[in-house]
This record gives sequence, structure tokens and C-alpha cells, in this order.
Amino acid sequence: MESTGIVTVFFLLGFILFANARFSKDSGCGVTKGCFSDCRSWDGCTYLITWVQTSAGVDFTIKGSLMSSIDQYIAVGFSSDKKMGDDSVTECVMTNGNTFNVVNSFNVDDDDNEMTTAPATGLSSISGSYTNGILDCSFQRTNTTADPQITSLLTDWYLFWAIGRMKHSEKHEHEDWGISSKVVDLQIYEDVGELGKPKVKAHGCLTIIAWVGFCSIGVVLARYYKPMWISKKLFGAAIWIQVHRALMIAAALFNLIAVIVIFEGEFEIYGSSFQNAHPVLGMIVTVVSVLNCIGGFLRPGPKHKFRPYFNWAHLIMGLLSYILGVFTIGIGLSIDDAHVPFDVIYVLVAFVVYQISFEVILEFIDRTGKRKQSQAGSYDTKMNSVGESKTNVDENEKKAQEPEKKEQDQYCGKLKTYLLFLHIGIISSFTLSIMTVLAAY
Ligand SMILES: *[C@@H]1O[C@H](CO)[C@@H](O)[C@H](O)[C@H]1NC(C)=O
Repeated sequence: MESTGIVTVFFLLGFILFANARFSKDSGCGVTKGCFSDCRSWDGCTYLITWVQTSAGVDFTIKGSLMSSIDQYIAVGFSSDKKMGDDSVTECVMTNGNTFNVVNSFNVDDDDNEMTTAPATGLSSISGSYTNGILDCSFQRTNTTADPQITSLLTDWYLFWAIGRMKHSEKHEHEDWGISSKVVDLQIYEDVGELGKPKVKAHGCLTIIAWVGFCSIGVVLARYYKPMWISKKLFGAAIWIQVHRALMIAAALFNLIAVIVIFEGEFEIYGSSFQNAHPVLGMIVTVVSVLNCIGGFLRPGPKHKFRPYFNWAHLIMGLLSYILGVFTIGIGLSIDDAHVPFDVIYVLVAFVVYQISFEVILEFIDRTGKRKQSQAGSYDTKMNSVGESKTNVDENEKKAQEPEKKEQDQYCGKLKTYLLFLHIGIISSFTLSIMTVLAAY
């Protein structure tokens, strides 16, 4: 439990120290100039493209937050559909942090971009700067050109935005991208945002249900509710194990679907190394949680010599995927594509604090119960330790033959049942509130 606390502190620190630099939006957006950006009302932008129609052509600015000062480009693309391919692109290239150039290129297909035959065609008044991590480029483009690969700006287009590295003076595949939420008329000054990324939102919601929701209930059942309701059965086995099993399999399954959804979207993270750890940690969580589910079915019998090893392995893998799962969600919420207000992280931290407190309370009840029983001389090993080294479910199942007595023996049994329902309510509220924020913004 202490480890969960330490992990929380670490991700808060990472969150604060390694978030992308953001800048505020141009107040002329939608009034004196057209804008396409990922600006958020609560903390500004990581990129902003503006345009103003003049008699000579269109004046553009491209502004963006860079993660480092290495040679990079920020591009604006003009597309008739929302897909990469067959699009005119104009990019600002930064070299050595002090040289700026603007050129035209063309998206041949969905993953190939080539320079146009005369990349400077139609471009003039190029200038740029790089200060405090923000690249700011401006240039003018004529309304039309003779080159069919350099599109007319009098036509309406979906705008693309992309950022990536330069390698040996060539553009490397973009590291992040965005698409305007609608077709843009460059002669009208609108303030246009990004097309939402529903797959990112779905991925987030599924993992939140899995780890914040299902797992938080499943873990307390396994740790504190083994000796409960032993006179009753659910589909032929103890209630706690059936519900625990169902919740954990659901968690692993939801997590797995979330991973498939995000892979389908082919998203990239343009962020700090802290944020780039998200997919790596996510894969560890996925592999460990699936293995632990499979392992659960291979549980050796209660008297088997491997049973204690199984118990420890199952516990360690379970805790690892739970703690790492919540931690990875925390990092995920910090990634720009999640598009959530920073404050949602406090809700996640509140959830962690709550979960730890709830387990401390149950731990206290169980220990008190154990002490009372040993004082009364009826010490019974059913209040087993985490490792289940002395006893186990199956013995509890045997005890079901004398249900009346055992039910009474369970210290604060009624209270624990009420607490469980309260816990389910509170966990559902946490899950729903984080999901709602993620889905709404
Ligand atoms: C470019 O287009 C704008 C808007 O249609 C027009 O006012 C302007 O005269 C055009 N400039 C040139 C050089 O064609």
C-alpha cells in the first residue's frame, strides 16, 4: 500500500515536470484571422496555425511547442478528405535552432511525403524564431501556383497539422498530427479546433473501467472477503471467488480491447519520455494481467506443495498489474491527445488515497477480529494472511458444513458487507467521474 502512495507521488511529479510547454491562443482568432489549433480553454495550445487573406496571397503563421531543440518541422496540410494521401503540404523546417525555412511537399499516399519539384514555389516573406521551446514561423503564399501539387488556397480544405524530426535534411515520419474539425475557408476568419480522436477516448474509458472500476472491487474481495458468506454458494463455488474471477477477467478483457482499439488508431505520442513510457507500461500491464487470469485457472489444489508459490505469484502479478495499470492511466491522462483538464489527475489521486484508506480500514477490522478470537481461545486460521499460507478457500468451503457457527465467527461480518456495498458505490462514482471528464472534453 505504501508503494501505491510512492507511485502516486512520482506520477504527479512527472506530470508537473514533463508536460509539454503550452502557450496562449492568439486573441485575434476568429476575428481578425483564421485559426486552427489544439488550444484548450483551461491551459492554452501546443500548436496554432493562423491565416490572413491579403491582396498578394495568404499570410500564414505556424506556431508550435517543441519537446527538444533538435532539427524538426511543423507542417500544415491541405486535404479534400480527412485522410493522408494526395495532399499539398507546406512545412516550416528548423535547423540548428536558429535557421528557418518554409517549403512545399506532397503526400503521395497515406505514408509517403515527397518534396515538390520546386519546393519554394509561391512562398515568400519567410521568417522564424525559436524561443522557450516555441517555434514560430511566418510566410506568405500566393493564392494559386502553376504546380498542380501546390494547391489553390481559394478552395476549401481540411487542414492537417503534423510535427516530426529532420534526419539528414529529410523529413522523418511525423510524431504527432491533428486534423481540423471541419473544412476551412481561408478567406473567412473562423476559429477551428481539432477533430476529436474517439479511439483515444474509448481506450481511456475502457482502461479506467478495468483498473479503477473492476479491479478495485476485485482486489478487496480476494484479500478481505474470503471468510464471508461461506454458507452460500454461487455457481458451485464461494461467492468471493466467483465475483473476484468475473471482475478480474473483465478487467483483463476490457484492458485488452482498449489496447487493440489504440493500435488500430495508429496513434503516436508527441511528449516527454515520461509520457512515452505509457505504451510500454501498458503492454506490461496487458501481458501480466492476461497471464494472471490464465494462471488463476491453473490454481493447484489446497494441499498441493505448489499452492503457496501459486498464491504469492498470483498476488504479486495481480498487484503489479493493478498498481501499474492505475499509474499508466495517470500518465495517459497527461498526454495531449487525451484532451482532459489537468484537474482530473486530482480525482485519480483522490481515488488512490480512498482505495488505500478503505483497505486500511478492512485490515484493521480483520486484525481486531483475529485478536479477539485468539483472546477467546478460539483462534482460527481462517483470517488468513495475504499469502494464504495457513488456509485457503477450499477449507472455507469445507467449513460451510457448519455454516451457523462460522457466520457468527466472522468479526463484524455485517459491517463488512455494508462496507463492500459502500465501496462498490464509491468506486463506481470515481470511475464514472473520470470517464465523464474524458468523454466530455
Ligand atoms: C487572392 O485572393 C483574394 C481573395 O479572393 C483576392 O482578393 C486577391 O486579389 C487575390 N490575389 C491575387 C494576387 O490574385
